[in-house]
Amino acid sequence: MFLETFAVSTLLFLASAAPTELQRSTNGIKWSNCYNQSVPLKCANLSVPVDWNNPKGQHFNLFITKIPARGPSPRIGSLFFQPGGPGSAVSEGMVPGGKYLNFWAQESKTTEVFDFIAIDPRGTGKSNPVRCNSTIWNKAGELTLFPETKEAYDQMATQWQEFGKSCLDLTGPFLKYVDTISAVKDYEAVRVALGNEPMTLLGQSYGAQFGAQYAEVFPDNIRAIALDGILDHSQINSDDVWETESKGFEDTLNQFFNWCKSNSTCALHNEKDLPAYFDRLINNANEYPISYTPEGCADDSCKQMITGSDIAGALQSFLILPNGEGPFDVSPGWAGLAQLLQIAVETNNFDVFASSALTTNTAESYSHTAIICADWNFSQENTTYAKYQNAIKIGKTMSPHTRGAGDFWTMKAVCQNWPVAPRNPPHEIITFKKSAKKLKTPILLVNAYHDPETNYAWAISMQKQLGDANSVLLSRNGSGHTSYYQSGAVTDAIDNYLIHLKVPAPGTVLRNDGI
Ligand SMILES: *[C@@H]1O[C@H](CO)[C@@H](O)[C@H](O)[C@H]1NC(C)=O
Ligand SMILES: *[C@@H]1O[C@H](CO)[C@@H](O)[C@H](O)[C@H]1NC(C)=O
Ligand SMILES: *[C@@H]1O[C@H](CO)[C@@H](O)[C@H](O)[C@H]1NC(C)=O
Ligand SMILES: *[C@@H]1O[C@H](CO)[C@@H](O)[C@H](O)[C@H]1NC(C)=O
Ligand SMILES: *[C@@H]1O[C@H](CO)[C@@H](O)[C@H](O)[C@H]1NC(C)=O
Ligand SMILES: *[C@@H]1O[C@H](CO)[C@@H](O)[C@H](O)[C@H]1NC(C)=O
Ligand SMILES: *[C@@H]1O[C@H](CO)[C@@H](O)[C@H](O)[C@H]1NC(C)=O
Repeated sequence: MFLETFAVSTLLFLASAAPTELQRSTNGIKWSNCYNQSVPLKCANLSVPVDWNNPKGQHFNLFITKIPARGPSPRIGSLFFQPGGPGSAVSEGMVPGGKYLNFWAQESKTTEVFDFIAIDPRGTGKSNPVRCNSTIWNKAGELTLFPETKEAYDQMATQWQEFGKSCLDLTGPFLKYVDTISAVKDYEAVRVALGNEPMTLLGQSYGAQFGAQYAEVFPDNIRAIALDGILDHSQINSDDVWETESKGFEDTLNQFFNWCKSNSTCALHNEKDLPAYFDRLINNANEYPISYTPEGCADDSCKQMITGSDIAGALQSFLILPNGEGPFDVSPGWAGLAQLLQIAVETNNFDVFASSALTTNTAESYSHTAIICADWNFSQENTTYAKYQNAIKIGKTMSPHTRGAGDFWTMKAVCQNWPVAPRNPPHEIITFKKSAKKLKTPILLVNAYHDPETNYAWAISMQKQLGDANSVLLSRNGSGHTSYYQSGAVTDAIDNYLIHLKVPAPGTVLRNDGI
């Protein structure tokens, strides 16, 4: 059903918009300085249609930033970057002192030879961002995502439904068009407008789903695609999505426990039974939820009650970068996590975890929610209290420490009554099943064995969909979400792939520096 609709829309796109029309105007993008000459950053807009099935219809501006290749070797082309999220407003990190600009302008080897192209995907940042009512989000955010009674469940479902409705009211019909297929067509329009050089793309996390869907729709326009930390969009059963994510989260938390036990620098090294210590903390906060007032909140109106399960969920983001490496210098790493847990228990102050709970109210959260709801079928499941209770039970059994928590658990709750139907429901990528060899250079897939967000199982599934002739999986024997921002052999292999088109042998396992 979906695949038919999809094939038709692809044809429409090819026939009506790209490449002829856009190809002729290689000056389709007009760069200007974003700051001044001393900042190596260019900015531009490109007008794209809201609905690619109706390219003559309403348009909006896609916001694009570029770091010109710094040399000294000759330029190879453009490197398109998709940092994941979804919902990340790349432009927010592409500012003087921002988390992306310094790394990509100075540290990455790739930007010696590539212009670095970072786009605010549709519905995010400065590209017609999704708008929602923050008051309603805050109210919904006060409610636990693990309701134990029918009343609590109904309240949660209703509140998130109202939140979704506020997004439709404030964003308008555009809310329906923030799906990933629409967004990859925007990237394609930028590629064509920049001179129609074949696509080189680095996608991380959700950006891996994005890159795979780019390949699904535009298999003939690819030079190289590296996908780092694989989100697999082929999981047709919505429960599989949060369950598999949750298993990877639980597994990585166990790696953290093991690391702490074996490494005397860990603040909780002397704790005899760290998993039990952790469970006590979570159970205690489930019994006596912790009151948390977000920073910048003037009165009690935005106070939240944080439960243990919510804290367990928030922990996910602390496991992402074990070594605290990369441009995300805010990450304390695992050593810092152990210290934070110890201090939180000793002082009974969990603000640091509460503030990173997924209900944090930011524009990115709205975009994130809208894109996930457009890409998955959570709103099509007719969720009931009974089904939800069953899922909570499964979560606790399957992941005893983290209890099923995770980003997709949150989205299961938030999207269940979303006001617009998913335009890009989950499906297998079949583009590469039709022909044995389609790509000159196979797509590079990279995943850590222990990833708290994108389970290694998703990378295996993605590799099967793309096939042996068109993809290679490089495994990182280590922990954490995505690999590129750690330095070491895996990162070098990604650089080598993007720059020199050197593809690792199938089955290659490497380590990066650190954990
Ligand atoms: C250029 O802009 C940056 C960022 O806004 C600022 O820090 C710097 O002082 C500016 N340089 C000049 C020469 O104006
Ligand atoms: C992009 O368009 C917005 C309005 O949509 C405008 O405010 C902004 O200045 C434009 N930026 C560039 C670099 O053209
Ligand atoms: C957001 O919702 C609150 C509570 O329902 C309402 O008072 C407020 O007017 C809404 N704000 C906007 C911008 O719609
Ligand atoms: C998802 O929902 C859409 C729209 O209701 C439906 O057509 C499709 O079959 C569903 N897909 C899956 C995998 O359940
Ligand atoms: C222990 O962890 C620290 C990071 O906190 C790391 O530098 C060190 O190499 C680790 N030691 C061992 C033996 O793994
Ligand atoms: C949800 O309910 C609708 C209407 O009753 C039905 O058509 C649909 O098949 C149901 N979906 C699922 C996943 O049970
Ligand atoms: C991964 O690393 C661990 C610990 O160093 C080692 O025991 C294991 O054999 C490695 N696995 C693979 C597949 O390289």
